[in-house]
Amino acid sequence: MIYLDNAATSFPKPETVFSSMEKCIRNYCANPGRGSHYMSVQSALAVNDTREKIASLLKIKDSLNICFTKNATEALNIAILGSLKEGDHVITTCMEHNSVLRPLKTMEKYSGIKLTIVDADGQGRIDPFIIKRHINRKTKLIACTLSSNVNGIILPVREIGKIAADKEIMFLLDASQGVGSIEVDLERIPASMLAFPGHKGLLGPQGTGGLYTAPGIRLNPLMSGGTGSRSEYLFQPDFLPDRFESGTLNTPGIVGLGAGIDFINKTGLSVIKTKKDELVKRLYDGLSQNKKIRVFSPPNVKENSGIIAFTVKDTDSTEVSTYLDRKYNIECRAGQHCAPLVHKHFNTSRTGMVRLSVGYFNTVSEIETTISAINRLVYEKTK
Ligand SMILES: Cc1ncc(COP(=O)(O)O)c(C=O)c1O
Repeated sequence: MIYLDNAATSFPKPETVFSSMEKCIRNYCANPGRGSHYMSVQSALAVNDTREKIASLLKIKDSLNICFTKNATEALNIAILGSLKEGDHVITTCMEHNSVLRPLKTMEKYSGIKLTIVDADGQGRIDPFIIKRHINRKTKLIACTLSSNVNGIILPVREIGKIAADKEIMFLLDASQGVGSIEVDLERIPASMLAFPGHKGLLGPQGTGGLYTAPGIRLNPLMSGGTGSRSEYLFQPDFLPDRFESGTLNTPGIVGLGAGIDFINKTGLSVIKTKKDELVKRLYDGLSQNKKIRVFSPPNVKENSGIIAFTVKDTDSTEVSTYLDRKYNIECRAGQHCAPLVHKHFNTSRTGMVRLSVGYFNTVSEIETTISAINRLVYEKTK
């Protein structure tokens, strides 16, 4: 089997992710922060250890500004629903995932926020100055993805963050695509909030993710409940991370996420990115030569988080992914990828796109097999 759906969730995971999770469940998986007994303390220490690892990876000064969620979607919803009110204006881009678009559109429809969605250029690039031009007195938030989950293009989030900071507007960075292979340095990117999944580039298990909020950013929590802290008090604690961590955490998952980050640190971000770049370049070169194939990802791998998206002339993307799966055991994704405005932009709403998303564990030979399989499909359809 050749797995090329790493943008949805990474597979396989490093061995240490399995072993650390098993060790946790077998030996010390009590409820973190809910007791003073040995195992509860062990669990809490393990959760905080992963918090520290994330802080160090993203250059966040205080790890308590990171709260764990079950995925990036939950983190984005806390950030969006928790920060906006009637009359606020928000700027976002056509390159966003539905996890950003849907909460914003819902608030536009039911909560009276105003929304501006800026368009991209022919490659999906966003010009920060177009964002700047749309800022008005009421602009409260700019929300932008680090990289498109459809064609992999990396957006100029540092410049966009600086524009937001200059105007004292909140900047929400959706780091779902790219974190774990692209350097995300919050000392250089002035993000007010950053949402991340643990199960994609960070190589942790599903059911993990998180939200960073910068000092001074105060959000209303989506959920209230038990935190193990200030239990005598009938309202949600004000302090982080408890404010956003109601209910029992996914301790084994968070431990596995910590092991995923250890693997990334041991291997090196640049080594991971270089390997992915090589695979992406091979895919680009191998597919873009075929006149019946249209590639939508940028030709320069430096601008790409690890995705090649394409269409085959007169063919629905699902037909291509089904062929690759059934005939070659190549696992990739077709359709809209939860990003309808990207398809509107590239005029692929009808066919969707085929998305090949590489991971560190893919090999050159897997990529060569994939290129041959796709070229074979095109040949069979057009002979
Ligand atoms: C850009 C982007 N944002 C948000 C998400 C949502 O991530 P999760 O599935 O962890 O909620 C995804 C998932 O594919 C994504 O690609």
